[in-house]
Amino acid sequence: MGENGRVSGHDTPAPRNPGTDSSTEGASDPRSAQERIAELTAQIEQAIEDYYVHDAPTMADAQYDELERELKELEAKNPQLAKADSPTQTVHGDVAAGFAPVEHLERMLSLDNAFSLEEVDAWAVRAGEGLGSGADVQYLCELKIDGLAIDLIYEDGVLTRGVTRGDGRVGEDVTANVRTIDNVPDRLETDDPPAVLEVRGEVFYPTAAFEELNEQRREAGLPEFANPRNTAAGSLRQKDPSVTASRDLAVYVHGIGVHEGVALASQSEVYEQLKAWGLPTSPHWRVLDALADVHEFIEYHGEHRHDVEHEIDGIVLKIDSFAQQRRLGSTSRAPRWAIAFKYPPEEVTTKLLDIQVNVGRTGRVTPFGVMEPVKVAGSTVQMATLHNQFEVERKGVLIGDTVVLRKAGDVIPEILGPVEALRDGSERAFEMPKECPACGTPIGPMKEGDKDWRCPNTKSCPSQVTGRIEHAASRGAFDIESLGEESAIALTDPDKRRAEALAALRGGHVIYLPIRSAEDAELENFVVLKNGQEVQGADGVPLLRITREDDPLLPALQTPVVTTGANLFDLTAEDLREVFVWQPERRDGEVTGDWRVQPTFWSRPTFRHYKRENAWKQQKPSTVLKNTELLADELEKARSQPLWRVLVALSIRHVGPTAARSLATAYGSMDAIREADLAQLTETDGVGGIIAESVHEWFDVDWHRELVEAWAASGVRMADDVEEGFVKTLEGLTVVVTGGLEDFTRDGAKEAIISRGGKASGSVSKKTDFVVVGENAGSKEDKARDLGLTILDEAGFKDLLENGPADDGSSDEEGFDGADTEDSSDASAADQKK
Ligand code: IVH
Repeated sequence: MGENGRVSGHDTPAPRNPGTDSSTEGASDPRSAQERIAELTAQIEQAIEDYYVHDAPTMADAQYDELERELKELEAKNPQLAKADSPTQTVHGDVAAGFAPVEHLERMLSLDNAFSLEEVDAWAVRAGEGLGSGADVQYLCELKIDGLAIDLIYEDGVLTRGVTRGDGRVGEDVTANVRTIDNVPDRLETDDPPAVLEVRGEVFYPTAAFEELNEQRREAGLPEFANPRNTAAGSLRQKDPSVTASRDLAVYVHGIGVHEGVALASQSEVYEQLKAWGLPTSPHWRVLDALADVHEFIEYHGEHRHDVEHEIDGIVLKIDSFAQQRRLGSTSRAPRWAIAFKYPPEEVTTKLLDIQVNVGRTGRVTPFGVMEPVKVAGSTVQMATLHNQFEVERKGVLIGDTVVLRKAGDVIPEILGPVEALRDGSERAFEMPKECPACGTPIGPMKEGDKDWRCPNTKSCPSQVTGRIEHAASRGAFDIESLGEESAIALTDPDKRRAEALAALRGGHVIYLPIRSAEDAELENFVVLKNGQEVQGADGVPLLRITREDDPLLPALQTPVVTTGANLFDLTAEDLREVFVWQPERRDGEVTGDWRVQPTFWSRPTFRHYKRENAWKQQKPSTVLKNTELLADELEKARSQPLWRVLVALSIRHVGPTAARSLATAYGSMDAIREADLAQLTETDGVGGIIAESVHEWFDVDWHRELVEAWAASGVRMADDVEEGFVKTLEGLTVVVTGGLEDFTRDGAKEAIISRGGKASGSVSKKTDFVVVGENAGSKEDKARDLGLTILDEAGFKDLLENGPADDGSSDEEGFDGADTEDSSDASAADQKK
């Protein structure tokens, strides 16, 4: 990532707020400003050295940019303190020992950054002012390639030098390495080359090649590379060119330096010329007149960041005309005629504060990292799964490490690995707990060789119960939107966070409770709270304050309203009246360390202070919350969901929507599934050995059968409607329909086949059982005849639908046992008949 990339990745704009940010406080106080400038300069210089000289970044680009921005601001406010050699005034990079220094023919500058469209506009306004009124400006917009800058020298059309940027004046001679890069021509494609041509560009690792490289390394048992940018830098700066040659590096050129004997008037003309000479120009550039179009270009590529062949960290905007470029000139560090718009970062570093474990709905114990909250790819991230203890080991992260965190677009955040250079010896290795953190039951692998550990307390482990209820309500099961994680916790494990609250109490924090009646205002515990802070007066929420664990007002442990889930559909609003959870208190969005007891399904009664009487009076009694009413409605509707959704809701291992649909189609009712023996289940289309066994074992457990019975008794539909579920006459059969039928549309015929349990296929093969031939059937009929398949007309098709095949047409497909996939997933994709 250009000159200020550190660990790799991209940058954070997060403009600082001088009012609240302690690091910029005192900017107006010269002494502290001086100290802060010295501190920032030292941090930035260290980061630059780690990145450029050691190829071992210790700071994420985003953090780097933020430090640099702060330094710039401080220097602007205190010009007397700004040094000429400040990192804000220079081009970064150095020449590492082992590479010959080479002086660039023309200086290689860096680019100034913009972190918002407003900053882009401000740059355009400045440039416009520099050019004088009426100047007609065209912007050349292109992608900012996340690679490293290179200077290529062609003398009389022959490549004679490849040099890194270094400090902009002197770079490293990497000619032998550059010669190994496939798309860099040794010779320009022209009979009339310029005497000397200096071409600037970016060396990068194409993402596809990078993934392939890591795949090979994985297979060879070698550690994987963290990201394409650092790998490109490491690959180019190799002492041994054969190593560079083994890496699939590429170059896109994006500018020129010295160019003797060629007249060029604009950046776009340069690109046409370089391309004509056989140099690799990027296909992703546009010349645009209007800033609105420039914005659109920026936004488009922000949304399609991963759709190009290389990583990008922003957009570079250049004023196209060279005459205008010359008029605007450059600072010591960057041209005034160009700007780099930087996207929000997708990789940042943060501190790994702890590794804790979570217990899922099937008892799987999953370690996850708890980090100092950090903004990445537009959202704040604090937790990331680490999958299992082997993953923790493989990533090599220790508690206390600074870690690299990645979140690309909508992708789940992932801890990539530690920044080892920042260890100070205080870090410690993670150890799997020996007991379930939710219920205290000893945990371990269920079978030898299992990577995952499980809590065997399936029926009562509160974490598993919560997980199952949440899952039953999820979109792929009963689809009860008003029953999410929070409500599931309130129903099944309301005291989940009680221990945390009590620990806070012991640590000097307080717990607040809702007042129950106006009389509570007389108690000595009575306080009024506003934005997480106790206030005098009546303008706030009246609460009771608990400071000691032996306070008789401290609520007792609750009995969860839902345990196995059997009563889920019988819940009444009244059952939920007293349910409360423990919530951290917040002030301005930040936790204060205090806690609050919060009813979940009913509102608190509200109280108002009446001035005249100087008394608190109840204003509104506790009422059922909207969401609770919605929950009741949704539960009612959920009762008539189709069978496959009920099956998914049961949390039978490996039974996700696909497997559940197969079971529902094949058996039509819960009873039929329960009564099927293992062999029958295994034979079922779409159900292999693993799913079959899992289903069979599941029904062997008493409380599982009781759960199904209870749901059935509450009116949950346990069989698909007869109108919907035709007799499964085509079980295991593949039918192809070709040509036009009179009484069926193409889709109608397909549906008719599927609803009878058959497979509707579009192509004829040896595996096809029946081919239905209508009007104007073409080559499929011929092929069917060649293969000697059974051919039916429309009447025969109708008969087949109704009565099934005349003889025993059972398929000869083989069962297939897929891999034992993880809880949360639907194993059916792997565990299906082929
Ligand atoms: S033009 C006068 N165009 O980003 C400097 N630079 O952060 C002109 N970079 O040093 C640079 N993609 O190494 C330009 N399409 C692009 C680029 C690009 C990546 C790098 C370049 C530059 C750095 C500045």
